[in-house]
Amino acid sequence: MGKVVLVCSGKGGVGKTTFAVNTSIAAAGRGLKVLLMDLNMGRRNIDIYLGMEDRILFDLGDVMSGLCTLDRAIIDYDLCPGLSIIACPQYREIDGIGPGHLRALYERLRDLYDLIVVDCPVSLGGILRTVANGADAALIITIQDYSSVRNADALNEKLESIGVSKRCYAINRMDKQYSGSDSIPGLSFITKALQIPLVGIVSEEPAIHLANNCGCPVALESGSDMQQRFAQIATRILQQ
Ligand SMILES: Nc1ncnc2c1ncn2[C@@H]1O[C@H](COP(=O)(O)OP(=O)(O)OP(=O)(O)O)[C@@H](O)[C@H]1O
Ligand SMILES: [Mg+2]
Repeated sequence: MGKVVLVCSGKGGVGKTTFAVNTSIAAAGRGLKVLLMDLNMGRRNIDIYLGMEDRILFDLGDVMSGLCTLDRAIIDYDLCPGLSIIACPQYREIDGIGPGHLRALYERLRDLYDLIVVDCPVSLGGILRTVANGADAALIITIQDYSSVRNADALNEKLESIGVSKRCYAINRMDKQYSGSDSIPGLSFITKALQIPLVGIVSEEPAIHLANNCGCPVALESGSDMQQRFAQIATRILQQ
């Protein structure tokens, strides 16, 4: 039975899509069959980060409306055997989608994949409930901002109340120049605030920003530090 892992955050723009993409590549690199789902409806980005914008003919909205079958909307990522993606609509939410729909979809996908990674929208309300219902685990991304940590804490509580029992977090865009200063939240502050396992730290890296924009993810760079970092993160998430 495959595992459904949400990649989410309390604040937008902190690295959810970066982590969802690179962790999925890392997991597929270990031989797992992985489906990366973009559920950031109306704000999809996974296709850009993977350089697949031209390949999206159908999305989950089309599946929900009956325009196409699920397998027509799922596309293999040629640069990483074992990894497939499904997009969501680019400019709108999916009409009428609710927690029951995604719970049923996750059930179906669990039989087909070892791991289903969900790039989530930022929400504490109905849309979070819709995507989180029936998920097995959540990876919460935060950056070193007091506001981001507080919002991550609120999300963590909400996920617990929805029933996502396995939750962990990662820190993105860590900047060493602030280490040891209280000006921004450090590792001990964040760990104490969130009280869930830390699975990885990714530093501020211009190479990541460039890779996202070029559509060639850092986790594909064989033997690189970034590839190793995301491989560790994938392993820790899967061990949970
Ligand atoms: N470690 C990093 N170093 C440098 N730039 C990064 C890093 N992680 C992410 N970025 C950049 O930060 C921006 C936001 O990243 P990303 O799109 O992954 O965040 P997000 O949480 O998915 O955003 P949204 O809430 O809009 O979906 C992008 O421009 C991305 O290239
Ligand atoms: Mg995103």
